[in-house]
Amino acid sequence: MTLKYSCMFCPLTFSFYIPLQASPGPKKIVGVFYKANEYAEMNPNFLGCAENALGIREWLESKGHEYIVTPDKDGPDSELEKHIPDLHVLISTPFHPAYVTAERIKKAKNLQLLLTAGIGSDHVDLKAAAAAGLTVAEVTGSNTVSVAEDELMRILILVRNFLPGHHQVINGDWNVAGIAYRAYDLEGKTVGTVGAGRIGRLLLQRLKPFNCNLLYHDRLKMDPELESQIGAKFEEDLDKMLSKCDIVVINTPLTEKTKGMFDKEKIAKLKKGVLIVNNARGAIMDTQAVVDACNSGHIAGYSGDVWYPQPAPKDHPWRYMPNQAMTPHISGTTIDAQLRYAAGTKDMLDRYFKGEDFPAENYIVKDGELAPQYR
Ligand SMILES: NC(=O)c1ccc[n+]([C@@H]2O[C@H](COP(=O)([O-])OP(=O)(O)OC[C@H]3O[C@@H](n4cnc5c(N)ncnc54)[C@H](O)[C@@H]3O)[C@@H](O)[C@H]2O)c1
Repeated sequence: MTLKYSCMFCPLTFSFYIPLQASPGPKKIVGVFYKANEYAEMNPNFLGCAENALGIREWLESKGHEYIVTPDKDGPDSELEKHIPDLHVLISTPFHPAYVTAERIKKAKNLQLLLTAGIGSDHVDLKAAAAAGLTVAEVTGSNTVSVAEDELMRILILVRNFLPGHHQVINGDWNVAGIAYRAYDLEGKTVGTVGAGRIGRLLLQRLKPFNCNLLYHDRLKMDPELESQIGAKFEEDLDKMLSKCDIVVINTPLTEKTKGMFDKEKIAKLKKGVLIVNNARGAIMDTQAVVDACNSGHIAGYSGDVWYPQPAPKDHPWRYMPNQAMTPHISGTTIDAQLRYAAGTKDMLDRYFKGEDFPAENYIVKDGELAPQYR
């Protein structure tokens, strides 16, 4: 929180920075997580589900705070909606996002802090949160490895035309030709990432031993030493990069600039037969434009774990388009990632109670400003 002080004897204005601190007394903390049912007890480290609630219940309650956890997040009759007027902190994950709209922010008179257990806080109306003086923070870096590994897997699944072969096995079929006519090696292909932040860079590093031609487009060019170590070439002009790529991976946040970025016109710039991996956010793509391009064959394969909205409705057209290798939102919620984002969330709550700053890279909204990657 920044306070401004004007001195009556001189024309200067002084700014004082005061870290966010919980006011004295018990706080109402609400967590929104996916429900695990019979899976909840199958692994003691399965912390990311509603039942295990990041493993912080005992700790919070021992400090006198109230901790409400629910998977019921959407609509005016949801459990979350009931708690909006008096909660102080809302924790959510991108896997089962609590959509925090401007209307909800308006109703949330006690709300101070929105924590994302994971990476990607686009489920919050960030401008409305900034205008309301809220702090939004996420556990930056907590699932970078998890997502980059998953993207590498999806690239290989698409390039090798893996899924039809797997389906043949389940269906009792055997038809090598039906797979082999469009199965390729990854070696020698041109792979471009749109966004080369933490995940995009790690993906490029993981791809290096496959001997691909690596390209990246980002708002920022990497420093030359890192660029040559990673072995990727910067492409300032996105459209030019897209026309060169056999495989495009999306790794930007969902922002006002990236929302619907891959519309009909952008998809037309892609090579015919391109493969796309998108674990960033579903809404970066124009849903119908992706369906049309998969139907026409312009996109020869599309894989990712992100949809809009989430959970994806039964009639979401991506479930039914050809050559897709989609899953529910899973890449960033491996058990290893859960342990990291549960620990990171607990650390930020602890700092909030003590009035200490969070790690600088965790802030998405602070003092009315959005983090640079969201502007
Ligand atoms: N599927 C999952 O489970 C999962 C998990 C983690 C993150 N994600 C998504 O991946 C995104 C990226 O994560 P990260 O940790 O790499 O974030 P990051 O902030 O480290 O990197 C994001 C990069 O995108 C670039 N960028 C932003 N806007 C851009 C634009 N308009 N054009 C070009 N580049 C732009 C930034 O400059 C930055 O380098 C997250 O915001 C989230 O949406 C998904």
